[in-house]
Amino acid sequence: MSKRISYKVEGDVQGVNYRAFAVKQATSLNVTGHARNADDGTVEGEAQGEPSALDKFVQHLQMGPSEADVKKVDHKEITVRDGEKGFQSNSYTSNMMNCTRGITANAFTKQSAGQALRSLNGKINIAASRPAFIHLQQQCSPPRRQFSTTKVMGIKEFFPAPDAPNIKLTEPAWPHPVYSQEQMEAVAIAHRQAKTWSDWFALSAMRFLRFGLDVASGYKPDKHTKDVAAAKKNPQTGVVKSAMTERQWMIRFIFLESVAGVPGMVAGMLRHLHSMRRMKRDNGWIETLLEESYNERMHLLTFMKMAEPGWFLRLMVLGAQGVFFNGMFLFYLVSPKTCHRFVGYLEEEAVYTYSRVLSDIDAGKLPMFSQMQAPDIAVKYWNMPEDHRSMRDLILYIRADESKHREVNHTLGNLDQKNDPNPYNSKYKDESQPHPVKDIAFQNPTGWEREDVIGKQ
Ligand SMILES: [Fe+2]
Ligand SMILES: [Fe+2]
Repeated sequence: MSKRISYKVEGDVQGVNYRAFAVKQATSLNVTGHARNADDGTVEGEAQGEPSALDKFVQHLQMGPSEADVKKVDHKEITVRDGEKGFQSNSYTSNMMNCTRGITANAFTKQSAGQALRSLNGKINIAASRPAFIHLQQQCSPPRRQFSTTKVMGIKEFFPAPDAPNIKLTEPAWPHPVYSQEQMEAVAIAHRQAKTWSDWFALSAMRFLRFGLDVASGYKPDKHTKDVAAAKKNPQTGVVKSAMTERQWMIRFIFLESVAGVPGMVAGMLRHLHSMRRMKRDNGWIETLLEESYNERMHLLTFMKMAEPGWFLRLMVLGAQGVFFNGMFLFYLVSPKTCHRFVGYLEEEAVYTYSRVLSDIDAGKLPMFSQMQAPDIAVKYWNMPEDHRSMRDLILYIRADESKHREVNHTLGNLDQKNDPNPYNSKYKDESQPHPVKDIAFQNPTGWEREDVIGKQ
C-alpha cells in the first residue's frame, strides 16, 4: 500500500544539483511527487510510493549529491494523492532568469552565479554549457570539496544490473563467511611489533604510504594525542575530538578501498604465474589472496552505492592504482614475505580507521551515519540479519573483514613462501585446537606463528 510524505531538507542544498538528484533517485524507486527550492534556502517537497521505497528515498535525501552538504531531513506522513505521474523538480526557470540577468548586468555575487549556473547545467545542453561552467565556477564559486566536484551532469546510477534477457541474477562467486555480532564486536585494534629488518622496512613503507593517503584523501589526523591514545586503547569509550564529517569519511573509504584491493590481486596473480611457469603446486595460497582482493572490491562497491566520487577523486584513484600495482608487482618478486607484512600493517590501520568511525557513531558525532541503512548490495553480500542492517552494522562487518586481512597477511608473512601450505585452506589433524579459519571464530590479530600452524619440524 502506498504512503505519502512531505519532507524538508536543510543544509547547503540549493544550487548543487540537489533536485536533479532527488528526481533521479525517486524515478529509480518508482516514487512520485516533487522537489522545489524554498525561499529559506531549503529544498522541500512531497513523495509517494511503497513504504520501503520511501525509506530508501529518505536515505538518499540524507546523503544528497556530492556537492551538497545535508544537515537535516525532516519528514512526516500526509494523505495519499491519486493520479500523480512521475517526480517533478520545480522552478529552475527562475534560476535561469536570475543567472541570465546576472551575467548580462555583470552584477551578481560570486555565489549566486555559480549556483544559478549549476542549476542550469542540469537542464540545458551540457556540452555547450560546460566551458562556461568551468570558467564561471573558477571565477564565482571557489571549490569547496576537491574530491567531489563532478556533477555538472547530475547523478548516475552506479553499476545498474545489466539487461541480459535470459539471466535473472548474478550471485557472488565467493560467498562471505558468517560473522556473529559478538565476534564482530570483539575485533580489537592491535599492532604486531616489528622484529626483523624486513618488518621494519614493511612498517616504514606502510607509514610512508599512509601519510600519502592521508594527504590525498584529506584525512584529519587526531590532534589530541591523549585522546588518540585513549581511543586506540578503547575505541568504544575513547574520545577523539577532531572527528571528520560523514562526507570526508566517505571520500576516505572510497579512496582506501580502491587501493586495498590491489595487493591481494598482485600476489595471487604472481603466485598463479609462478605455479604455471615452474609447474609446481601453490599449496592453496592463490584463492585466499584473490578472495581478499574480491572482498576489498565489495567494500568499494558498497560505498559506491552511497556516494558518487568526483573527477578529482577518480583521478587520484587512477594514479594511486598505477603506482601501487607496479610497486607491489616489483616488490613481491623480490620479497613476498615483506609484502605480506606490509599489508598486515596496512590492515592494522584499516581496523583502527573503522574503529574510529564506530566510536564517532557511538559518540553521536556522525548523525547522518546513525540514520543510514546498509545498501542492498551489502545486505546480500554479508547476509546481514534483518535487525542488523544499519550503517554501524555495515562498518562492523567491514572492520571484521579488515581484521581478517590483518591476521591473514601477518600469518602469511611468518611462513616459508615457497613450501608451506596455506593455513586458511587446510584441514587440521586436531580440529578442536584453535587454528586459522576463514571466518573470525578464532581471532589472532597479530598473526599465527609458523610453529603454531605448521608445527615443529
Ligand atoms: Fe576494505
Ligand atoms: Fe583490508
